[in-house]
Amino acid sequence: MNLEYIAHSAFALDISGKTVLIDPFITQNPLANYDWKNCKISDILVTHGHGDHLGNAIEIAKDSKAVISAVFELANYCSRFGVKTNGVGLGAKINYDWGSAWFVPASHSSSTPDGVYAGCPAGIILNVNGTKIYHAGDTSLSSEMSLIKEVYKPQVALLPIGGQYTMGVDEAAIACKLLGVEKVVPMHYNTFPAISADAKVFKYKAETYGIEAVIMNPGDKIVL
Ligand code: NI
Ligand code: MN
Repeated sequence: MNLEYIAHSAFALDISGKTVLIDPFITQNPLANYDWKNCKISDILVTHGHGDHLGNAIEIAKDSKAVISAVFELANYCSRFGVKTNGVGLGAKINYDWGSAWFVPASHSSSTPDGVYAGCPAGIILNVNGTKIYHAGDTSLSSEMSLIKEVYKPQVALLPIGGQYTMGVDEAAIACKLLGVEKVVPMHYNTFPAISADAKVFKYKAETYGIEAVIMNPGDKIVL
């Protein structure tokens, strides 16, 4: 599969011609340049209700008939707009025709841009043919990550490093050690001045723990 970094915390996974979007914050995102109309989007996975994660999910779901998977309250909110949703609880394994995903706790908050309570914030572990990718959403450093290593054994982590609303560079480096991943991609930084961070410093720190850090620019793709 291909993992494309759209920008911020938005990623597109291309799995045998189908596209799965995670946190598709695109049109209001100063760094993103992604045209969803050219893709066959089957699912949109959203970690929490904040505008920089819910993003264009509802609009894309309307255009593409893709299903939005999110924590129950956020899924219910989305369904009011007439899109297909899959409401999940933390800890559940959700099966898809392209693989599966577990929604796990994130240490953060979650409400929609218009102030509606959106349930618990989540991280998401996607499993595609045994390749497990942990998208941490917005989170602090948390002992949850040791449990994620023990139970799910992800090989790849997508971790916020921008600080202010999430963990920063130092904590994210410790997170990859707790997660025991082979590869880490930093996200949620430099989109706005408040979340400025130096990804090269993060890369250096992660690599002192023997973890390969891949700095992706918006539009970059890697094969997993
Ligand atoms: Ni957030
Ligand atoms: Mn955020």
